[in-house]
Amino acid sequence: MSLSRLIINNFRNLTAVDLELSHGFNFLIGENGSGKTSLLEAIFYLGHGRSFKSHISNRVINYERDHFVLFGRVEEAKHEWSVGLQKTRQGDTTLKINGEDGKKISDLAHLLPMQVITPEGLTLLNGGPTYRRAFLDWGLFHQHNEFYNHWANLKRLLKQRNAALAQVRNYAELRPWDIELAKLAHLVSDMRAVYAEALRPEIEKTCQFFLPELEITVSFHQGWEKESEYSEILMQGFERDRTVGYTMVGPQKADFRFRANGLPVEDVLSRGQLKLLMCALRLAQGEYLITQKSRQCLFLIDDFASELDPTKRALLAERLRQSGSQVFVTAITQDQLNQMHWQGQQSDKRFSVTQGKIVLL
Ligand SMILES: Nc1ncnc2c1ncn2[C@@H]1O[C@H](COP(=O)(O)OP(=O)(O)O)[C@@H](O)[C@H]1O
Ligand SMILES: [Mg+2]
Repeated sequence: MSLSRLIINNFRNLTAVDLELSHGFNFLIGENGSGKTSLLEAIFYLGHGRSFKSHISNRVINYERDHFVLFGRVEEAKHEWSVGLQKTRQGDTTLKINGEDGKKISDLAHLLPMQVITPEGLTLLNGGPTYRRAFLDWGLFHQHNEFYNHWANLKRLLKQRNAALAQVRNYAELRPWDIELAKLAHLVSDMRAVYAEALRPEIEKTCQFFLPELEITVSFHQGWEKESEYSEILMQGFERDRTVGYTMVGPQKADFRFRANGLPVEDVLSRGQLKLLMCALRLAQGEYLITQKSRQCLFLIDDFASELDPTKRALLAERLRQSGSQVFVTAITQDQLNQMHWQGQQSDKRFSVTQGKIVLL
């Protein structure tokens, strides 16, 4: 899967962009504030229906306009899809796939798996478990069609339980709901555990490649005591949950932790090593999808590689090249790209970005 064409209207400072893209590497070169990150953000938006920078969608609409439009042509093997997304300041969203309305964001996301590597993405390692759950769930979403429904239902049931905690008179009233919730919790957790276990060797191998000096290990934590029946845990925790007003343990607390030589990575790794680890994780997961599902995965790499040392940058470029993925890389100058050893190939494209205008070099 790759994006062969991208049209952007009124997304941040990108008022009118229309690009024919390379299926290999696309380099975006431009000064600070020219619109490089905005371009990656627009691609991300097209695949997620939201930004990786701001939760407020009005922020991405050009200051002087009342809506933005994104259009992409997606190609995979011999198939082609056109995807379009429009969002207004009033909050109306129009989403079309091959001209058809009534599509959901999850349909878009299925079509466009992507991994983002940005400096902010370090939260995967030094942020809360939410980021690592999102990492795991990304893989499950693309690996198993049914995961999304289970996950969405679980979220809904948990929300309902939290609301009900304040209303029920005793636990008996909540019990039938908890039994349903527990079934889903086990289902989702088991899927997470199986996926985490399958991904583990891939991660460890990729970490060996990027950080051979460290022994990186990963472990999945389901969010409640191992081997325990979740419905029992819910029953035992009822009074406490009622006091605090929400469900304290469960799959909403799951985590996927990384250790280096037995210690939590965020405590012992340098910033540079953390960045490298983050690259390795995203790469391993993207590659795993490619091999498991014969699907491609897009990589968006922002300002990032510039902070890695040249040999590691070259390793990253080489691995991405081998994966056959479509890659977007931003840099401030061509020199920087040269120093990064991002060796160009004929199919690659370079674009210059200047004050929101993007032209092929
Ligand atoms: N909603 C918006 N409308 C118009 N311009 C915006 C909006 N949001 C941000 N900008 C501007 O867009 C420019 C591009 O930012 P960015 O893509 O982060 O640049 P780069 O990554 O090239 O350094 C910045 O100058 C920023 O001020
Ligand atoms: Mg930027």
